[in-house]
Amino acid sequence: MRRIVFLGSPGAGKGTQAAALAQELSVAHLSTGDLLRAAVAGKTPLGTEADGYIRKGLLVPDDLVVQILRERLDHPDTSDGFLLDGFPRTLAQAELLDRFVPLDDVIAFEIPEELLIERLTQRRLCPVCKTVYNVVTAPPRIAGHCDRDGAALEQRSDDLPDAVRTRIAVYHRQTEPVLKFYQDRGRLRTLDARGTPEEVRARLRALLGLPATP
Ligand code: AP5
Ligand code: MG
Repeated sequence: MRRIVFLGSPGAGKGTQAAALAQELSVAHLSTGDLLRAAVAGKTPLGTEADGYIRKGLLVPDDLVVQILRERLDHPDTSDGFLLDGFPRTLAQAELLDRFVPLDDVIAFEIPEELLIERLTQRRLCPVCKTVYNVVTAPPRIAGHCDRDGAALEQRSDDLPDAVRTRIAVYHRQTEPVLKFYQDRGRLRTLDARGTPEEVRARLRALLGLPATP
């Protein structure tokens, strides 16, 4: 049983590292961004309400995000632990989580801002299996199509330059206080998220006390 939280700015590489690590540790990968995008795609009432915020690069109101995460935490696959990717990102969310769920590791991905815009505008996503690509640093074998299922890759509605800039500003304003929340409690560990995905993965493994090779 291991409960891990990944914090860090948009495009820091949280989702890329979380997918591989959750699979290796056999814990559930809980990305509130993925859960919200699935609700948007499924045109649920919650998804329809969240869509406007996401497109602009703003945070979705706490009550909606907490509701969608609670439902996901009820799923039995979280009983062996989970990796939270993209939650908490407001102080209210952090305080709520603190009251109800003990955490083992809180990792903050640190990366210079100038690398983010490029990474985000180059990102492509498989709508079927959610695999994340990058047209420059992690391209699919056949341009525009997922390696796993051949589906046509998509660009996230919030990976356009205006929304990206808003997301970075929102991160400074609303999510940096969350880092301080964990730092004040002696819980925060920082990860240098520069370099290749493999280099970041090696640093992450060392930080979590995992053997160097999976
Ligand atoms: P969310 O989906 O969580 O997006 P985010 O936090 O903005 O983070 P990203 O997913 O953009 O970045 P990432 O760190 O996962 O990077 P990735 O690995 O993909 O949230 C989206 C929206 O949903 C929010 O704006 C908000 O509206 C809403 N929301 C979600 N959670 C919420 C919450 N708790 N409260 C309120 N609202 C919430 O990598 C990015 C790109 O870089 C990819 O192309 C990848 O291939 C590439 N890459 C990754 N690592 C490397 C590397 N080392 N070198 C080179 N390229 C790399
Ligand atoms: Mg992500």
